Amino acid sequence: MSKHILIVGYGSVGQRHAGNLTELGCEISSVDPRPDRRADTSTNFETLEAALAAGSYDGAVVATPTAFHVAQAKTLLAAGIPVLLEKPISIDLAAAQDLAATQAQTQVPLLLGYTWRWWPPLAEVRARLDAGAIGRVIRVDFWMSAHLADWHPDEPLTDFFMSSATLGGGALLDESHWIDLMHWFFGPPSQIYGRVEKLSDLPISSDDHVDILARYDDGKRVCVHLDLIGRPHEKTIRFVGTGGTLVWSADPNEYRIGTSADQTWQVTPFTHTRNDMFQGVARTFLDMLDGPQRCGPQRVGGQPSCTLADGLATMRLIEALRKSSKEGREIALAEI
Ligand SMILES: NC(=O)c1ccc[n+]([C@@H]2O[C@H](COP(=O)([O-])OP(=O)(O)OC[C@H]3O[C@@H](n4cnc5c(N)ncnc54)[C@H](O)[C@@H]3O)[C@@H](O)[C@H]2O)c1
Repeated sequence: MSKHILIVGYGSVGQRHAGNLTELGCEISSVDPRPDRRADTSTNFETLEAALAAGSYDGAVVATPTAFHVAQAKTLLAAGIPVLLEKPISIDLAAAQDLAATQAQTQVPLLLGYTWRWWPPLAEVRARLDAGAIGRVIRVDFWMSAHLADWHPDEPLTDFFMSSATLGGGALLDESHWIDLMHWFFGPPSQIYGRVEKLSDLPISSDDHVDILARYDDGKRVCVHLDLIGRPHEKTIRFVGTGGTLVWSADPNEYRIGTSADQTWQVTPFTHTRNDMFQGVARTFLDMLDGPQRCGPQRVGGQPSCTLADGLATMRLIEALRKSSKEGREIALAEI
């Protein structure tokens, strides 16, 4: 039977989820304060409360600006509706913990949308590293650089929530995909140092430039760089191990492994497109609705997954990075 999904926040990513869920046979209703946005769906509401009063839903996607995530997800869980919550969980750790308490109380499932976990090339890279393709990994560099004005070219930057610190914009929160991936690859570091800054002339109140150095107990060093300034856009991860180097990139869509001193690389190309990972998330969410008991700590029905606990780990790192940047020192994760 067709599932009825409520999309809360019918902007860029909300519409993408709606399209994918429609293709998978779902009926869609939407909530958005902007009539021009929600008008795309036949059943649409100005507020979440109005949507809940008017209908029943098998699941809901929360795709609003980050500042609204926790209140809306709590309302949905309290109403017994499973949630696909867009990343990050919230603006700060305390709010994320508040949501976790509601989920523990209600036991209603929640899937978190750190969507790069569903990107098949990265899953393959993780498997290759686990299988020892470059020996013991010692140094990793994540690099994400993308000029904010290119993200939503059809709307003024000042109207986009990403420009507002109060709404939860900025490189640290919104590009926390790469902090989540650091955790997904290696678990939590023991020490972390960060600088969270606004360096460009962009007309925004949020940060636009983040540098992170994470130290692991096994001696590994992981650096993560995030900026909302760079052109051309770049997303790469370079892993240096005792037996060689592996470089993953989003564009070109490939990873390459080199194990000799010269520039000889074994390249593995892919043909996936960006929407593939969102389709993967949609399928996992629908599976979760069919069998919430399968929502284990790491995987749902054998597929990639991302739980509230995963998102809390990222929020904890974000909190540590803010503290580090403010106090100008390295922070032990045990302090947070
Ligand atoms: N997983 C991913 O790769 C990915 C990609 C893009 C965005 N996101 C996340 O999705 C969220 C939304 O990002 P976006 O780019 O779609 O933003 P957007 O500005 O395009 O869309 C947000 C929509 O929410 C609506 N909205 C504002 N307040 C609301 C409220 N109280 N109730 C209901 N709707 C409300 C806005 O009118 C807008 O239409 C953010 O948390 C972002 O980090 C995730």
